[in-house]
Amino acid sequence: MNSSPWWKEATIYQIYPRSFFDSNGDGEGDLPGITSQLDYVKNLGVDAIWLSPFYPSPNKDGGYDVANPRDVDPRFGNLEDAKELIAQAHKRDLRVIADIVPNHFSDQHEWFQAALKAGRGSKERERFHFYEANTDGTPPNNWISIFGGPSWTQVEDGQFYLHLFDSSQPDLNWENPEVNADFEKTLRFWIDLGVDGFRIDVAHGLIKEDVLTNHPDPQGLSDALRLDVAMDFEKRNALLLTVPFFDRQGVHEIYRNWRKLFDSYEGRDIMAVAEAWVHPPVNATRYVRADELHQVFNFDLLTAAFNSDVLFDVVEQSISLNATVNALPTWALSNHDSPRVASRIGDEQARALALFVFGLPGSTYVFAGQELGLPDGQLQDSDRQDPMFFRSNGPSKGRDGARVPLPWSGDTTPFGFSNGKPWLPISQSWRDFTVENELADPKSSLHLYKNALELRKEFLVGAGGLTWLESSRHGSKEDALLSYSRGVITVVMNLSDSAKECDVAGKLIIVSGGTVDARDGKKVIPARSTAWFLT
Ligand code: NOJ
Repeated sequence: MNSSPWWKEATIYQIYPRSFFDSNGDGEGDLPGITSQLDYVKNLGVDAIWLSPFYPSPNKDGGYDVANPRDVDPRFGNLEDAKELIAQAHKRDLRVIADIVPNHFSDQHEWFQAALKAGRGSKERERFHFYEANTDGTPPNNWISIFGGPSWTQVEDGQFYLHLFDSSQPDLNWENPEVNADFEKTLRFWIDLGVDGFRIDVAHGLIKEDVLTNHPDPQGLSDALRLDVAMDFEKRNALLLTVPFFDRQGVHEIYRNWRKLFDSYEGRDIMAVAEAWVHPPVNATRYVRADELHQVFNFDLLTAAFNSDVLFDVVEQSISLNATVNALPTWALSNHDSPRVASRIGDEQARALALFVFGLPGSTYVFAGQELGLPDGQLQDSDRQDPMFFRSNGPSKGRDGARVPLPWSGDTTPFGFSNGKPWLPISQSWRDFTVENELADPKSSLHLYKNALELRKEFLVGAGGLTWLESSRHGSKEDALLSYSRGVITVVMNLSDSAKECDVAGKLIIVSGGTVDARDGKKVIPARSTAWFLT
């Protein structure tokens, strides 16, 4: 019997509720829509769903601006719908992870409205970061918000409040015990309703220090913190070492307390995954020490080039760093904040990388639509809704491209997603990507994902560590190949544009594209492709 916790090597499917399935024709996905498609999700072979926020929200940042963390936005349904979703997921043996947003509230949350009214010096303002202007009237420091523009907004009486994101997302003051108590209430609320875990938004941001200190390159830092801004890998990493507002020691005390709260629910195995993009990478391991959280996202594969040395380094570093705290890594190729992997590195490469990653130890996250091989949606500026686009005034188009609703069926847009007008337009060119079409095509990306996830469960979950077989870092002559073995499976990825021979034993059980031939006792791996062999 497998005594390993359910989350340890789980495949977790991220659903952006607004874009998944619309049950009431208003053009936006909703909770009953998700419930109606749970058989599809289950048949993919995943273990859990992570739901991006569905709480009441003015929706200035896609629901990450929460006006009430203990309710459901009427656009998505109501609490009964949430209960039903959880019950139906559990019936199918799928766990449910809720996305919690402790770094900030919406400016429409009753606390912030009360703080505006109560004025300077009040206990209501103590729940946020309100400061006086500098003597020349400028904001307290020069930080630039991650969405562009100043990190400070002035209120009527002259004080400024801090917001690392949009001005509608005032940062909470976690030095105030009231904030802690309110979040514990929220955690209990959702656990009592049945959720199995939490994804913690901006988990590394809760404690602020040096709030009055300027940064030497605030614009560079803001760009480096955005996954949609392309930047040289080394330059990004150097800037990320200088973030003054993330990853302060105090955050760990919060998570140690939360861990006690989770563990107090005996027999529930409540887990939490931290969105903590911290530098140097070793710092991420602090979030998954035995008495803290269960997983921390690894962001490297969201930006890494399709290059064998880069990928080797990312994988090796993540596995070995996590091992120092007895944890396993997490892997993600796409999410709602970054360009879709098929657009970023190419569709064949995206399939190859997915198959490469599904063999690795640890948990793997799949962003809804990734299994279909969806590219980013092509949008006009007039369609865009992301505050990043509006606030940055720069070349960045923001994150809407990755959030275009899913195409389900039929030949014309919006492909069964909704009976109404989808909140972002779905291009007619997505006809071949519908779930219906891909289910009918055994060579589709969807079938590749389903088959691979089934084989992963059968042979790889719990198979222990990996042994590298081919990598130029290990002296292989062929730098186009990256290969490892785990348990009874050997995984070989050919990153180049031509077929490559590889000395690998075993029977081919899956390939991401093309045909694997045999020549002179060697296997010939197709260009831009990954194959698994069973030994
Ligand atoms: C990270 C979330 O993934 C992103 O979508 C959001 O805009 C920021 N945190 C702010 O909550």
